[in-house]
Order: sequence, then C-alpha cells, then structure tokens
Amino acid sequence: MGSFIKNIADILRHLSPSERRHYFTTAVILAAGSGQRFGQENGLKQFFPINSLPALVHTLRAFEASSLIDEMVIVTKETDIERCETFVKDFGLKKVSKVLAGGSDRQESAKRGFDAVSDKAKFVAFHDGARCLVTREMIDNTIRAAYEHGVAVAAERSRDTVKIADANGFSKESPDRNTVWLAKTPQVFMADIYRAAVYTAEKDGIRATDDSMLAERLGFKVKMVECGNENIKLTTPNDVYIAEAILRARQEKQQ
Ligand code: CTP
Ligand code: MG
Repeated sequence: MGSFIKNIADILRHLSPSERRHYFTTAVILAAGSGQRFGQENGLKQFFPINSLPALVHTLRAFEASSLIDEMVIVTKETDIERCETFVKDFGLKKVSKVLAGGSDRQESAKRGFDAVSDKAKFVAFHDGARCLVTREMIDNTIRAAYEHGVAVAAERSRDTVKIADANGFSKESPDRNTVWLAKTPQVFMADIYRAAVYTAEKDGIRATDDSMLAERLGFKVKMVECGNENIKLTTPNDVYIAEAILRARQEKQQ
C-alpha cells in the first residue's frame, strides 16, 4: 500500500497546472438514510419541502449546475427510486446516469454508488442528499482542490472551542480552535484513492461516518476547503427553518 500511495503522490506532483484543467467527475448523491434524528412523521428528510421544493431537488440542481460535474448517481431507498426518477424528468436533470438502492449505513450506500459510476470517472464527489444548501461555488472549489491534492473536503472552520471528552463526559482535551474544522460534503476523491481506501476499510472491518476518514487512515493527505457556515445538513426539524431562512436571504441578495 505504501508504494501505491507514493505512486499516486508522484502522479499528482507531476501534473502541471495546465494539464489539471478537467477530469471526468461524478457526483454520488447519498439519499438512502432513514432520518432517525429528524423523525419520519412528515416523510424522509431528504424529500422534505424547503421553500416548496424537495430538499433533494435543491441538492441535485446545484450539482447539475456545476460545469465540473459530468455525471450524477443518486443512491436512495429501493422504495424511492421511482420518485427520484420523476425528479430527474420533471426538473430536466441531464447528468443523472443511475438511480439505485443504498445500503444499511452511509458507507455501504457510498460504496454502492461508487460501484455504479462510469468507467470514465477520474474523480468522485460524495455528497449528502440532505445537505441541500450546497452551492455550485462550494462544489467547484472542493473539486478543484481535489484535482490538485487527490482528496478534498468542504469544511467550516469551527467558531466554538471543541472539547474531546472521555466516555464519562469529562473533558480530556481542548484542541487549538484555529486547527479545528467541521467536515461537510462534498468530499471529493481521485477515484483510485477512494477504491483503495474503501477496499482496505472493508478488509479491516472499519465503518466510518465520513468518507475522507477512510483515506486518512491510509496516509493520504486530505485538503480542507472552506465552505462557510451555510452548507448545513437537515439533521433535526429545526434545520428546516434555518435552511429556509438562508435560501430567502440568498434570494433577497439576488434582487
Ligand atoms: N445516507 C445514505 N444511506 C444510509 C444512511 C445515510 O445514503 N444508509 C445518507 C442520508 O440520506 C443523508 C446522508 O447520508 O443524506 C447523511 O446522513 P445522515 O444525516 O446521518 O442521515 P440519516 O442517516 O438519514 O439520519 P439519521 O442518522 O438521523 O438517522
Ligand atoms: Mg445517519
């Protein structure tokens, strides 16, 4: 594995900026979760209306609009495949190549999505379908950083001091706030790096809540790309109010 990492690092180093313009890039949009923390009384959070459009439609439109995205794969529950195919038709999404069923955890859904991307894909961007305020700019900045560094993650600098606690809830450590980032998505990988990372994670029985953790444990450097504080994920019902307020503020700015 050491020599594999060295080879990838060498390839990245030898690419001159002019050769780095564009690589076939696929977005894998993860929308197969059950939204336990959000609650399901009003349906799954990825389909919850945000300013009258399903959250997932906001997400898909942002990726459709990015000139760096060539293809999109949607991962959802078996029972929602048809609903997602309707979005593709109704909203004229031209880049979606497949809609397929996810797995029992996020990592399994991501792997199934990855297995379905085109053979042409050199880079793959994993994104939470429920992170519906992502913008074309956030997507493009993260992809460009991945073209340069191999792996890049949209992230927000922490405004609060983070405490690492022990199992009993006592603070053990307070990392320097200037070094603390909150990881969001998209998380973009050179496809070969992700393939190696997911293969070794499965072999070692590792389950991760974040895609880039899999690459970190193999020693790949993961570039943090500042995306500000608007790239929120619908996690609890309160997030709907925050998301709608952010969208309204963006619309007002445009007028
Ligand atoms: N996800 C997925 N497949 C899973 C679990 C999660 O595709 N088996 C997706 C979710 O649909 C979501 C994203 O991964 O867009 C981030 O996950 P999270 O916010 O944890 O969503 P849920 O797992 O649905 O919510 P919860 O953890 O509260 O149950
Ligand atoms: Mg979850």
